[in-house]
Amino acid sequence: MRHLIDPLDFSVEEIDALLDLADRIAANPTAYQGVCAHKKLATLFYEPSTRTRLSFEAAMLNLGGAVLGFAGADSSSAAKGESVADTIRAISCYADIAAIRHPKEGAPLRAARYSRIPVINAGDGGHQHPTQTLTDLMTIRRRKGRLGGLTIGLCGDLKFGRTVHSLIKSLARYANMEFVLISPEELRVPEYILSEALEPQHIPYRQLSSLEQAMPHLDILYMTRVQRERFFNEEDYIRLKDTYVLNADKMKLAQPDMAVLHPLPRVNEITLDVDDDPRAAYFEQAQNGVYVRMALIMTLLELTDQGGALC
Ligand code: CP
Repeated sequence: MRHLIDPLDFSVEEIDALLDLADRIAANPTAYQGVCAHKKLATLFYEPSTRTRLSFEAAMLNLGGAVLGFAGADSSSAAKGESVADTIRAISCYADIAAIRHPKEGAPLRAARYSRIPVINAGDGGHQHPTQTLTDLMTIRRRKGRLGGLTIGLCGDLKFGRTVHSLIKSLARYANMEFVLISPEELRVPEYILSEALEPQHIPYRQLSSLEQAMPHLDILYMTRVQRERFFNEEDYIRLKDTYVLNADKMKLAQPDMAVLHPLPRVNEITLDVDDDPRAAYFEQAQNGVYVRMALIMTLLELTDQGGALC
């Protein structure tokens, strides 16, 4: 039995196969509508979510399966003090696969250790968000035609941004990548990401505070929200929250085929006048999230696919 807890739990070859499956699903979604008949997905969300929870649920419903779960710790027995380990033992009796989002780093890993069903990390604190990364990789591959040989700028809250941490770890496995890390001093990428993912392989990276300086050199710009919920101090959040605002004027500095990604939700960091720019890919990302999660559910449930025909 396999889980997806860390973005590196799948090899590059396995990711390629999963993205190929997601592409086939995107091309012909109705061919997959009975694949998960009689299977159940549990969504155990101890933290707020719109895209991740609902795209997981849409994915399972699209595959002909059913969904159950909770959308907040307060409506589960966590409110009575139940541990994640006991919760997943119970859920293993009710569902075939589970997606867990939790504010504590490592909670999905702990759940996986006690689970009798595949567990998917749907975001753990400021740590990792591997299914958002699958969504990002699918979007980059469809936009740029490849993974690798790209200069990516990641901008905003790189300290607490779990989507950023997972994406850097994943893209570092592809050849000829360059990373431009754009943040205020206080919100830089954690040292362990640099020392584990980039430095051992001598992958080039720069840490900048100016988005304008980086823009002309980027193939992809990955914007992120400054995350109020991770700050200990409201004053620091207010001081930093609007450091970067991407607008139509700043887009003039970018290459004509640069892609703008954002895991969403956004607050102020991308203005509405960017939405109609053909380089804006963030709602396409949200759509790809459904296809990639359909592919992930099929992969973890070991439902094989041969070019669109399930066997
Ligand atoms: N991208 C993402 O994780 O969004 P939600 O918090 O809405 O799930």
